[in-house]
Amino acid sequence: MPDFKKILHTIYEKTKQLSDTGRVATYIPELACVPEDKFGICLLDIEKESYQIGDFDERFSVQSISKVLTLAMAMGLIGEKIWDRVDVEPSGDPFNHLSLLEQENGIPRNPLINAGAIVIADILVSELKNPKKEFLEFVHKVSGDTSISYDEKVAHSEKATGFKNYAAANLLKSYGNLKNDVIEVLDFYFYQCSLSMSCTQLCNTFYLFINRGKCLQNHDFLTVSQVKRINAIMLTCGFYDEAGEFAFEVGLPGKSGVGGGIVALLPKKFCVAVWSPGLNPKGNSTRGMAALERLTTLSNLSIF
Ligand code: DON
Repeated sequence: MPDFKKILHTIYEKTKQLSDTGRVATYIPELACVPEDKFGICLLDIEKESYQIGDFDERFSVQSISKVLTLAMAMGLIGEKIWDRVDVEPSGDPFNHLSLLEQENGIPRNPLINAGAIVIADILVSELKNPKKEFLEFVHKVSGDTSISYDEKVAHSEKATGFKNYAAANLLKSYGNLKNDVIEVLDFYFYQCSLSMSCTQLCNTFYLFINRGKCLQNHDFLTVSQVKRINAIMLTCGFYDEAGEFAFEVGLPGKSGVGGGIVALLPKKFCVAVWSPGLNPKGNSTRGMAALERLTTLSNLSIF
């Protein structure tokens, strides 16, 4: 393995000095309160050795990164049946666009755009007695960390302002691709997005995607084939209309969130989480993308 300690230090110092570090998301009012100079990185290798720098232990709103975890939980519960209701193609569109959904009769392009994640949320609402509680328990088990929680303020803030998500859910309902009540499904969706986690906690949680479906505590959560599929979806769809750019610059499967977090991973080698709240115009962390480009360049490690 390369000298990750030294590499993270170099990346951190270089990336901290970027002249444009993007803009903090404001469309969810509560996210606008986060100081834009926050910056942390954590890398966890397959031997469970971890390396950190900056604000790696501070919790932030993981937002769309949670979509990978709800997908993992739904795959564990209903397996291949998911693909009757959600496709696995990149959308080439921003995360909240609705036009393709209408053109394609209510089948979302993939589970990582908002409409797709809302269908996955609907599956969990159907399958679970108490979806919010049971999803949080799932995250606790996968991460081995029971201190992870939702951020109620963020959840309520998005509930009050997430009009496009109400539109997406209603459109899905009109095509018969939402089985439960719109408000109930969105309540769960807003809570899952409000999960508050640090870079360290994200790495601990995503360890199963580098370890063939086994979590840090060595419990089996997913099959090797399910992990292959989820990692493939992260590579092709994890960054919306910037998925190509992320593969080109970084060369790893990953997932971003509008809270400024990005998780990326190299199967059987390492997972890495970066947090810097300033976003580029496509909604991905500006410093996060730059830091990960440097990581794969300096370490000579990527899936390619
Ligand atoms: O639905 C939304 O708009 C947010 N809860 C999540 C969006 C998000 O993180 C997109 N990611 N880059």
